[in-house]
Amino acid sequence: MSNLFNTDILQGKVAFVTGGGTGITGGVARAFAEHGAKLAITSRKEENLAAMKAAVEGFGGECFTVAADVRDYEAVENAIAKTVEHYGKIDIVVNGAAGNFLCAADQLSSNGFGTVVDIDTKGTFNVCRASFEELKKSKGQILNISATLHYLATPMQIHVSAAKAGVDAITRNLSVEWGRHGIRVNGIAPGPIEDTEGMKRLLMPELKDKMTKKIPLGRFGRIADIENSALFLASDGASYINGVTLVVDGGQWLLGTSLM
Ligand code: HXC
Repeated sequence: MSNLFNTDILQGKVAFVTGGGTGITGGVARAFAEHGAKLAITSRKEENLAAMKAAVEGFGGECFTVAADVRDYEAVENAIAKTVEHYGKIDIVVNGAAGNFLCAADQLSSNGFGTVVDIDTKGTFNVCRASFEELKKSKGQILNISATLHYLATPMQIHVSAAKAGVDAITRNLSVEWGRHGIRVNGIAPGPIEDTEGMKRLLMPELKDKMTKKIPLGRFGRIADIENSALFLASDGASYINGVTLVVDGGQWLLGTSLM
């Protein structure tokens, strides 16, 4: 557990987290529960949800699970409705569900490109849209997890770069449109974070040293680094922060994410 924040900073809040069973967003979900939030997590895979539920309940937290594919608007609406039925409200929405694989643009099929855009970008819109009325009632907030891949250009990642650029655009647009309803919309752009599914899929082990040398802080990020940023943005300490995507990458993107 992070000791940087009081354990009760999210007391009384209900957090709905997509992709909240595993990886970076799983860490964020668990950290929110450790800091007092009642958790609702959704993922395509029921088994990913069961493990997180057991972990959260293991330390006395509350975790409601509902399987849904964020590409399916009706399934998202159902997950939101079930969460409201269970807890009575939603205060925080975290969009972390994402798809990724390495593929050169000249090898990528239209459906491969569209699949990642559908999961990351359309999925983020779907969840924001379906939770709007609840967030309006609670004067809640949204946290969108994107990436830094599109700040410059990242070979083999055209689909994810386009998808995450779209997520950042959603963050900015909604912060402007929904700020008037008291809803804050922010994002986090993680850099290379060790012990994640993304890094396992995207980085060959022999390239880890080369990448580490290109990170100004000289190390990979940890899931706890993203958890702490998310806790801050979700807390009342960030109550005037809206429309920001916080880059948490040790300064990596400024030197370029490409190893070519
Ligand atoms: C080329 C591929 C491919 C690959 C799938 N496709 N994998 N193309 N190389 N390795 C193509 C398929 O051929 C198909 O197109 C289309 O994509 C859909 O594939 P499906 O397998 O039918 O899709 P689905 O079952 O919906 O799975 C979606 C998925 C999934 C994205 C492929 O496997 C997935 O979500 N995996 C990653 C989960 C993950 O790692 N999440 C963490 C993300 S990390 P055709 O044309 O054949 O029909 C992250 C961080 C980014 O986002 C930043 C890092 C620094």
